[in-house]
Amino acid sequence: MTLQPYTKTGSHDEVELQDSSSPELHLTHPEPEENVAIWTLTSNAWKDALTIPLYLEESSYLMTVPLAKDGGMSQWVLVDRNLPPNQRPLLASCESFRKRSLISDTHGNVTEGITHGVASVYCDPKYRGRGYAARLMKELAKTLLHWQTETHKCVASVLFSDIGKKFYANVGWHPFPSYHIEFKASPNDSTGATKILAEDLASLCPEDEAMVRKAMACPSDSGKSRYTILPDHEHMLWHHSKEGWVCDRLFGKRPLVKGAITGQPGSRVWVVWTHRFYSPPHGPDCSENTLYILRVVVEDQTSLKHFTSSLEGTLSDQQPKCDELIANMRAVLQAAQNEAVEWKLYHVKLWGPAPELEEVIKLTGVPHRRVDRDEEGICSLLWYGEGSGREDEVEWVGNEKYGWC
Ligand SMILES: CC(C)(COP(=O)(O)OP(=O)(O)OC[C@H]1O[C@@H](n2cnc3c(N)ncnc32)[C@H](O)[C@@H]1OP(=O)(O)O)[C@@H](O)C(=O)NCCC(=O)NCCS
Repeated sequence: MTLQPYTKTGSHDEVELQDSSSPELHLTHPEPEENVAIWTLTSNAWKDALTIPLYLEESSYLMTVPLAKDGGMSQWVLVDRNLPPNQRPLLASCESFRKRSLISDTHGNVTEGITHGVASVYCDPKYRGRGYAARLMKELAKTLLHWQTETHKCVASVLFSDIGKKFYANVGWHPFPSYHIEFKASPNDSTGATKILAEDLASLCPEDEAMVRKAMACPSDSGKSRYTILPDHEHMLWHHSKEGWVCDRLFGKRPLVKGAITGQPGSRVWVVWTHRFYSPPHGPDCSENTLYILRVVVEDQTSLKHFTSSLEGTLSDQQPKCDELIANMRAVLQAAQNEAVEWKLYHVKLWGPAPELEEVIKLTGVPHRRVDRDEEGICSLLWYGEGSGREDEVEWVGNEKYGWC
């Protein structure tokens, strides 16, 4: 075992630094003061457009919002078990969020379980390259299986890697196809879509969830298990709490419009979005600022399915319904572009549309490009169920931006 001297910041005390394989290291939860130390370090990577003091406030606030509050969010640190809280090196850290999720077999037998979404994996620069981050993740993979499983089994853990595929694959989270459709912010004349306000989501999200449950209960001919994180109101509220807090500080106002909806009952299409400011408006990197479509909902799933074969020209009798779907999709996408212009965001990004939805988007004629992500936002799955838990055996349904947190 290698023991290396460690000097605490602001103190002359010396403690020994354990090797990353040491049984003396364990996973635990940080104290409030340790949180501040962690956030001070992570500000460098994740403060976006905020100042460091505002990022510290934001981090604290984000523990009190839906999805995170009431134990929904857990914080984790790798430390030496022999050292007392507040006097121990924080060797690596991260957070997890409890999410409701469904798995379904090819016959449509659905099981509800929980998924722990992992975020903010971090190692203090002075401890990097010694295996602490990998050890943190290995301990976490074992711990999460039994974490908060009082009412439901834990079926999986997900994360969205910004450091490529290898690091997380080595510790159990396997990369899945990660791509998005990108539109430019550009003004459109009246789109015909109706604004979705915060209060509308309280009924739209449960409607969406009911449709997801129904779809998961249908048999599938893919030969794969299906897995999804429920796109519930808590997820949308988490994203909107974050955007609201940031926009209040940057602009002194919050975005009121949370999405757009159009179409007749039974054929409605809607999108829910969030505003993300990586950099202050007008700042040097402001061209990264993006309107993310968190979730796309298509009520008429029957028409949507026709787009898997549209290239062979088999739409004929379904044509009017399919045209309606294309027009509705065009309207909500253009509404998203308008919203991006209004908030001086440069792009609209829509993560992981299913192939048939991608086909519909092509037919809307709204200019876009498809981006396959290799390094950032790599959707990664640690599967606790049977089988490999990889792309060849599991279909990750609705792998959209709402699940990112
Ligand atoms: C990513 C991070 C946590 C890794 O910490 P670390 O202490 O260097 O990691 P470890 O020493 O445990 O590395 C374990 C292995 O992963 C590899 N690795 C480390 N950082 C990597 C990176 N950024 N990309 C790819 N591989 C990486 C190491 O080379 C090592 O490989 P090996 O086992 O073949 O030798 C750290 O660099 C960090 O905090 N970065 C800033 C925040 C960040 O980007 N977090 C990830 C968000 S998704």
